[in-house]
Amino acid sequence: MTAGRKTDKRSQLAGRRFDLAVDLFTSSYEAIVNLNRWGSLVGYFELKQIRKWAKDGLPLKRVDQVAAFFGLEAQAFIDARIAEKDLINALYRAKPKVMEDGPDAIKPEHIEPAVEKEANTGGSKSPIPHPQYIGPPGEQIISIPSTPQIFLGRGSDIDNIKGLLNTGTNHQMIAIHGWPGVGKTTFAAALANDVAVQEGFPDGVIWMPMGVGFNPITGFSTLGQRHLLDSRELRQTTRLEAAISLLRDRIAGKRLLLLLDDAWEVDHVAGFRQSVGDTNVLIITTRSPEIARHLVYSADAVYRLNVFKEEDSMALLKILIPEVVEEYHSQCLALVNTLENLPLAIHVAGRMLRTENETWPDNVKALLDELIESIGSVFQERAPHDLFDPVKGELPTVKMLFEKSTDRLDNKTRICFALLSSFAPKPATFDLKRLTAAWAGIGVHDPKPVVTALANQGLLEPMKNGRFQMHALLLAHAENLLQGL
Ligand SMILES: Nc1ncnc2c1ncn2[C@@H]1O[C@H](COP(=O)(O)OP(=O)(O)OP(=O)(O)O)[C@@H](O)[C@H]1O
Ligand SMILES: [Mg+2]
Repeated sequence: MTAGRKTDKRSQLAGRRFDLAVDLFTSSYEAIVNLNRWGSLVGYFELKQIRKWAKDGLPLKRVDQVAAFFGLEAQAFIDARIAEKDLINALYRAKPKVMEDGPDAIKPEHIEPAVEKEANTGGSKSPIPHPQYIGPPGEQIISIPSTPQIFLGRGSDIDNIKGLLNTGTNHQMIAIHGWPGVGKTTFAAALANDVAVQEGFPDGVIWMPMGVGFNPITGFSTLGQRHLLDSRELRQTTRLEAAISLLRDRIAGKRLLLLLDDAWEVDHVAGFRQSVGDTNVLIITTRSPEIARHLVYSADAVYRLNVFKEEDSMALLKILIPEVVEEYHSQCLALVNTLENLPLAIHVAGRMLRTENETWPDNVKALLDELIESIGSVFQERAPHDLFDPVKGELPTVKMLFEKSTDRLDNKTRICFALLSSFAPKPATFDLKRLTAAWAGIGVHDPKPVVTALANQGLLEPMKNGRFQMHALLLAHAENLLQGL
């Protein structure tokens, strides 16, 4: 390595360290002191000291110490409030980086330029942008989710998206859609953490969770926070029109990747879409193919994320319940087929089986048979812990996750959806004739508008041969709805 590159690397590290210090102890400091748990931080390190670090840069050993401090506590926060968890994640992620670089990698003289630059430019030219840590003072702290703890398959999907991100293709936006629980958020998180993807976006990668109740103005103002986009105007704007043009100006000519996870309305995304310009890229994830199609021009920028391959489903089960897979291999194969290789369902069924295996091992085979026969009981179970909902402060059941899609349907369409459960063959595919028969009893004479409404929500998927398919979990959800009618 040449001396120049070494210095570069050091000043990048200094920048990172400074950003981390600011993250921890300035804006987020406001948030920190508002949360009881964080009283321990203040108790552990003196306030005066914290402010000084924020001003002068955080000594490397302290970063390590702080990270270790929170690392120890991290478990306790897993299912607690998300703002805390996100900050913990940031710390957790910071720790190995600092450790890798070694405590002697940074000398005090390397801190100063980063601090100065930050002060002079309002942060926009920080030597290394810190997209991971975006923290609106006093509000939710948004960070890129860590690389998923278990991340299987998806190698070719990652390659395909990288292919689309190649500058040659010139996509301003890519929309990833797929069944509920297929792994869109997990996949997007893996993309955001992918080193090659990060290198392709030297100005940074920004992560923004959306969700059903997303408010675009809040979204824009969140982007206006520190680090990457540090823009008071954007932060304070209450007019969407102004926000769009402020964001557009702020990121014009940059190479930023903006990941919007879980979009439910075209209107939630369209403003960001208008702001990206031709150098930045927007990726959204959504259950709705309609939203996906609406926001991109070319069909190849709409990317369908499919269910696992059978071997990935089995690999997941092997991680979750190795002894059960070993003993009941063929039943486990039958189970992943019944669950039609949906990662969410495999996680939940795996957990049910693990509990059974640890409590009533003699019953494991019976539970396997029961699940293969009917997957209805999966719906009453809570989702895996990584699906904790920070807005509601709860871990939803699988049923609640599926209801998010059907709650949006008008009454008649929802009844049509529920009725499909009694007309479906296995696997659930339908032609128009069968759909007409299913809905004739409630006065639907032309099934096409209903099919369109269901397909737009990602509840029914057109196949190539004029038929439509429905995932087994959606079918089971339809069955539950029908029973409740
Ligand atoms: N590639 C994967 N490897 C292992 N587990 C996965 C993978 N993808 C998803 N999962 C797990 O499956 C569950 C559902 O994943 P995720 O939340 O990403 O789905 P989603 O498509 O975003 O769902 P939704 O439609 O509700 O937004 C999570 O618990 C996640 O950890
Ligand atoms: Mg998701």
